[in-house]
Amino acid sequence: MQSFLLIPLFIASLCSALYPSSLVYQFPKGTWVENLAVRSSGTVLVTTILPNAAVYEINPNSSTTPKVVAQFSSSLAALGITETTPDTFYVVSNNVSTATGAVAPGSNKIWRLSFPGPKVALVSTVTNASFLNGLTTLNSQTILAADATAGAVWAINTTSGAYKKVISDPLMSKPASEKVVGLNGLKITGSTLYFTNTAQKVFAKIPLNADGTPTTSATKVASSTNVPVANTESYDDFGLDKAGNTAYCVVGGGNVIQKVVLASGSTSIVAGNLNSTDLAEPTSGQFGRTTSDAGTLYVTTSGAINIPVYKNGVKYQDIGGQLVAVKTS
Ligand SMILES: *[C@@H]1O[C@H](CO)[C@@H](O)[C@H](O)[C@H]1NC(C)=O
Ligand SMILES: *[C@@H]1O[C@H](CO)[C@@H](O)[C@H](O)[C@H]1NC(C)=O
Ligand SMILES: *[C@@H]1O[C@H](CO)[C@@H](O)[C@H](O)[C@H]1NC(C)=O
Ligand SMILES: *[C@@H]1O[C@H](CO)[C@@H](O)[C@H](O)[C@H]1NC(C)=O
Ligand SMILES: *[C@@H]1O[C@H](CO)[C@@H](O)[C@H](O)[C@H]1NC(C)=O
Repeated sequence: MQSFLLIPLFIASLCSALYPSSLVYQFPKGTWVENLAVRSSGTVLVTTILPNAAVYEINPNSSTTPKVVAQFSSSLAALGITETTPDTFYVVSNNVSTATGAVAPGSNKIWRLSFPGPKVALVSTVTNASFLNGLTTLNSQTILAADATAGAVWAINTTSGAYKKVISDPLMSKPASEKVVGLNGLKITGSTLYFTNTAQKVFAKIPLNADGTPTTSATKVASSTNVPVANTESYDDFGLDKAGNTAYCVVGGGNVIQKVVLASGSTSIVAGNLNSTDLAEPTSGQFGRTTSDAGTLYVTTSGAINIPVYKNGVKYQDIGGQLVAVKTS
């Protein structure tokens, strides 16, 4: 008899089970952590939009203060980051206004960080872009940058700094009436580019040619319309598992991670809660790279700087951007 009662309870608890998460580091108030990349050594590089455009290196094993490894004084904000060849990273910076979301024309830049050091160099000023946001690697010499306002993807030659628009697709566009950003995160697995569009609340994919141009138009994989959010802000960036089977999309206004099985498009919430500061307005995610943390998704947050979190009726806003470790296995 007892087992009949226990089985439904067991199933119910499995369905609602969240992965355990723990805080790695919380920055001071006024810090908006925007994106991250993991070095092969296991340390995590995080970019900041506020209080200034910087890249910090964090050892997830240590509670010591993160080290500033780059600061872009000619820009207001640092955003997407990607690795091309071992320990060579590229970072987007620009002059986005966190009050209005407008980006100063001509302010989108791409920087190279080469470790050891790192040595920091300006690679390109992408004058024709409107609002560069997420970044991903196409090949050892070429990166792709999401243009959140233009609804397009730019390919940047990291050797010459030359750039060209390679994709423009209806699923990347932002309706003019929308206040939130459009195209946001980008990641490639195989020859498929996955991306999030915040305004359209869509996670989608598009198959690419070797030069980054699409072979056909984009198709929807999943949506965040069923995820409760405190305002209209939905998907931000996302992380892919190493096998390229699963995406972990962060929902900024929902303070949660939505897991998406790429083959089926099925979704489930695996970390966070609308009314919890565990993931206070998450911005992106990336898996660990050492044997001990290969199943850990590191998640950056803005510290609820845009959207307050209500926990037990108490309002939390600008608690300081976080780096959180979510144990998926
Ligand atoms: C953290 O500790 C684990 C276990 O000792 C180790 O495998 C990993 O390389 C360490 N990471 C860093 C960044 O030192
Ligand atoms: C971006 O902001 C920086 C820092 O305030 C300023 O020096 C620079 O001129 C601005 N660039 C543009 C293109 O507006
Ligand atoms: C990138 O620029 C370098 C240097 O100008 C050039 O040799 C290379 O062919 C370019 N790559 C592509 C894919 O255009
Ligand atoms: C940049 O914009 C200018 C002016 O509209 C245009 O002439 C040029 O071809 C564009 N370049 C690229 C690489 O898109
Ligand atoms: C949960 O969050 C929603 C949206 O911010 C808010 O309206 C509600 O009061 C919160 N509930 C609790 C118990 O704090």
